Formats: sequence, structure tokens, C-alpha cells
Amino acid sequence: MVTEKQIFKEGYAILRAAKIEYSEFDAKQLFENAFCHKITSPLFEKQEADAAKSEKFLSDCKRRANREPLQYILGNWEFYSLPFYLNENVLIPRADTEITVEAALKYVNDGDTVYDLCCGSGCIGITVAKYKKCNMTLFDISEQALSVARKNAVLNGVFASVERLDVLNDIAEKKADVIISNPPYLDKSEMESLQPELRHEPSLALFGGDDGLDFYRALAIKQKQSLKLNGLFILEIGEKQAKSVTDIFTDNGYERLELINDYSGNNRVLVFRNIF
Ligand SMILES: C[S@@+](CC[C@H](N)C(=O)[O-])C[C@H]1O[C@@H](n2cnc3c(N)ncnc32)[C@H](O)[C@@H]1O
Repeated sequence: MVTEKQIFKEGYAILRAAKIEYSEFDAKQLFENAFCHKITSPLFEKQEADAAKSEKFLSDCKRRANREPLQYILGNWEFYSLPFYLNENVLIPRADTEITVEAALKYVNDGDTVYDLCCGSGCIGITVAKYKKCNMTLFDISEQALSVARKNAVLNGVFASVERLDVLNDIAEKKADVIISNPPYLDKSEMESLQPELRHEPSLALFGGDDGLDFYRALAIKQKQSLKLNGLFILEIGEKQAKSVTDIFTDNGYERLELINDYSGNNRVLVFRNIF
């Protein structure tokens, strides 16, 4: 008889052999996902391992050993203490993006019309709409991302519109009080030196043009037409982009209200007001 514990050790060994950084944590997550019970359960030590669950667990460990991100294998991840479905068509929500949500919760008022441009999984817009009674619309260019965002709105019991929009070329029909965005912002050289896990994420979600700033230019100039006078932009940025993004916005009729750092002390969020 093969016990659940023996199967766990087999999977854990696969991750360690592949030098996965947090192999014990990942093996535990994959085990609990496949076997549908906690590793601390009394079943773990002595219970005979179910063959189908063992096969799933070991095959998931092989995927992880192949550098597929844990979050895609699990198919879901927690963000701001809320559950989100995920697949390879959307960026994995990052802890840094919780800083963007914190900023939005500070500035958005009940009743505001709010847009989440480049929404991906919908983690920003759905979380804000969960805690503020605003009129939220989520936009992305990718139909596959929009279908994930729609599922996530239902999963979290949030009412939000989810629509296709190319932020580089189109504008929204109505003007917003607040636009939040975490757009693609990696530059050409960063795209060429991506970690193996990041290569599994959609390049559409990562690449911000040769200098990484194409989307910020489009947001400042094109999307000005989607924002009310005195309306706010709340933008997530790359850690080295605060000056360039500030210059783009202040050159185009915005006043900078705030620069917020992430938990590691890196510049992460900028807030602008549309002044003319
Ligand atoms: C960095 S991801 C951010 C996803 C999500 N907001 C988050 O924080 O996890 C950027 C998103 O921009 C979308 N995108 C790329 N080009 C776009 C465009 N021209 N118009 C609208 N969305 C676009 C991608 O599909 C992707 O979902």
C-alpha cells in the first residue's frame, strides 16, 4: 500500500530536484489541491493514496518542475483576501498591486464612475467594486482576459461591466471620475531577460513598448478623453518609471498628487489629477 505521505514525498522530491525555490510550500499547495484536504489531516500519515489524486498531484509537480507558475497550475489565487480564477491568458495578480488597490480605496467615492483599464483577471476593479459602491467598468483588449474577469466578478458577487477596449486607440463612451490602471510596462531589454516563470505569462500583459512607456503615453493623451476634468488617474508603475511617467503626465495637463511606495520601498503607484 502507498500512503498519501509517501506520494507527497515523491512530489516534493521532484520539485527539489528541479531546484524550485519554495519547493516545500509549492508541494504542499499542490498536494492539498489534488487531495482536497489539508496536509495536517490525520488521513495524511496512514491513508492509502487514491490513484487518480496521486496521478494528478505528481503530474502537477512535473508541471511546476518545468517552471509553470504555481498559480496557473492551481487555477486560482488570493488577492486582497478575495479569490480569483486564473489561467495563462491573464497576469498573475501581484502583491504590489494591492498597493494600487489601497490607493484606489482612498480616492474612490461611493457613486463615482470608475474604470479599470487593462484589467486582466479583474483583480483591481473587482476588489475596488467589492468595497466601494461605485459604477465600475473593467476594460481589456483580450477577449480571453475579459472572460476570466467576468467569471471573477461573479465569483466575488460584484456587479461590474466588463468590456473590450484598446487603450492605445479607443476611448470609453462616458467620462470617468477615476481611472485605475496597471498597464503592461516592461521595456525591450526586460522582455529579453525574463525569469522562466514569467515566460508563461502573456507577453501582451507585459510588454510596454521599446522603452516600456507606450501605455502611459496613451493613458495621458488618448485616455484624457475618457476622464472628467478634475478626475483622477491611479497608475501602477515599474520601480524605475516614476520620473518618466510623471513627466509624461505633467506635460499633458495633469497635477501629481501622490507617489506611493510598495512594501519593498520601491516607487509603485502614481496619482494624478486632470487639471486642464
Ligand atoms: C500588466 S497586465 C495587468 C492586469 C491586471 N490589471 C493586474 O493588475 O493583474 C496588463 C493587461 O493589459 C492588457 N492589454 C494589453 N494591451 C492592451 C491594449 N492595447 N488595450 C487594453 N488592454 C491591453 C493585457 O491583456 C493585460 O491584461
